[in-house]
Amino acid sequence: MIKLDLSKLEGFLPQDYLEQRREGLERAADMLAHHNGPGGDFTGWVTLPRDYDKGEFARIKAAAEKIRRQSQVLVVIGIGGSYLGARAVIELLASPNYNLKQKDTPDIYFAGNGLSTDALLELIALIGERDFSVNVISKSGTTTEPAVAFRIFREMLERKYGREGARERIYATTDKARGVLKGLADEEGYEEFVVPDDVGGRYSVLTAVGLLPIAAAGLDIDGLMAGAQRAMETLSAPGLDNPAWQYAAARNALYDGGKKVELLACYEPSFRFFSEWWKQLYGESEGKEHKGLFPASVEFTADLHSMGQYIQQGERLMFETVVKFAPKGEFIIPNDPANVDGLNFLAGKSLAFVAEQAMRGTILAHVDGGVPNILLELPAIGEDTVGELIYFFEYVCGLSGYLLQVNPFDQPGVEAYKKNMFALLGKPGYEQLRESLEQRL
Ligand code: PA5
Repeated sequence: MIKLDLSKLEGFLPQDYLEQRREGLERAADMLAHHNGPGGDFTGWVTLPRDYDKGEFARIKAAAEKIRRQSQVLVVIGIGGSYLGARAVIELLASPNYNLKQKDTPDIYFAGNGLSTDALLELIALIGERDFSVNVISKSGTTTEPAVAFRIFREMLERKYGREGARERIYATTDKARGVLKGLADEEGYEEFVVPDDVGGRYSVLTAVGLLPIAAAGLDIDGLMAGAQRAMETLSAPGLDNPAWQYAAARNALYDGGKKVELLACYEPSFRFFSEWWKQLYGESEGKEHKGLFPASVEFTADLHSMGQYIQQGERLMFETVVKFAPKGEFIIPNDPANVDGLNFLAGKSLAFVAEQAMRGTILAHVDGGVPNILLELPAIGEDTVGELIYFFEYVCGLSGYLLQVNPFDQPGVEAYKKNMFALLGKPGYEQLRESLEQRL
């Protein structure tokens, strides 16, 4: 289980900050359990690790196997909550270098998460003549970036395999009843997977949205769900000794005390996209009504040599949450009889020991510099641990949003740019807005 260490908040928060938030936490946990708070229609993720659709889960495994049999490449098309979870888990569990490894699973590339021409052309060249399949993921089925990418890759598949052959290689993950993608998938007879109505994009990694690409990468999705289920059972117990309650209360109290940025730090490079997933989860859930912690991330020790300066001595507006995994393997630093580099004081020590001291030293330095630190300690990276961490962060996010008195399950702010983009692109129905925007540009 995740070990939460709040000892390095001492001196930054009032003694009774946790007690002060007891009632708010009780209310928040109750609203999550009964799905009756703001955005309650989108809290299906709370019991998902237990109540997920077992029939669909089996179909996900079968589809993943079929993709592995048929294709050397899987292109996963999606953006935001329909993208980041799968990438986060694949990079964390299978490595950011997954595509470079010798393996009997397909290379996995992500598309439709931007509008870069260069990135698209590079991806097409990378696929080359290899056999490929596509998993298009969009809950609404109308998001521009993935829709454009899907049109391109569908056309490529149809040219390569014919319409019938393409059908055998396209997997559509979307709403069970609505949307353009749903209509297209029904019409063409693509295999379909469902984004449940009561689970929003950023909480959907443990649905087919994340699970199909993760399973195609050969990862153990049963292990992932088991870890999440364990976290669900532990964290549903009300009380101030609940680590999710403690973490949510601490971040809320730090925010009230003037800390406006939460910096997620990890010493594993494979955690980079997990941080991206986390930033979306917290940024979209809390950042509204002119409120909310700004979620940022750093990769240590690399960023200690860049952002470390700001963290130590810049504006005192942040606190850090450090995620520490136990190492999976061991590497012992060799002895050098000549000791030219003067490093023999480390000879015989493991690299993990060196990293541990770097972390301990950094935490104290940052605390001394006015940056409160929260430490989350986890066992080695594995499916079970990652499932647990996903659920932990989701649950804390729900509690935190309710403590902040916002709806943590909507995202009205992301619509503003879409409206302008549609108008500027000449989408029918947006003519007037287009005119006024063009005048301003
Ligand atoms: O969290 C969210 O709701 C968003 O990030 C969406 O996931 C993102 O905009 C993609 O939406 P869709 O899955 O409808 O294409």
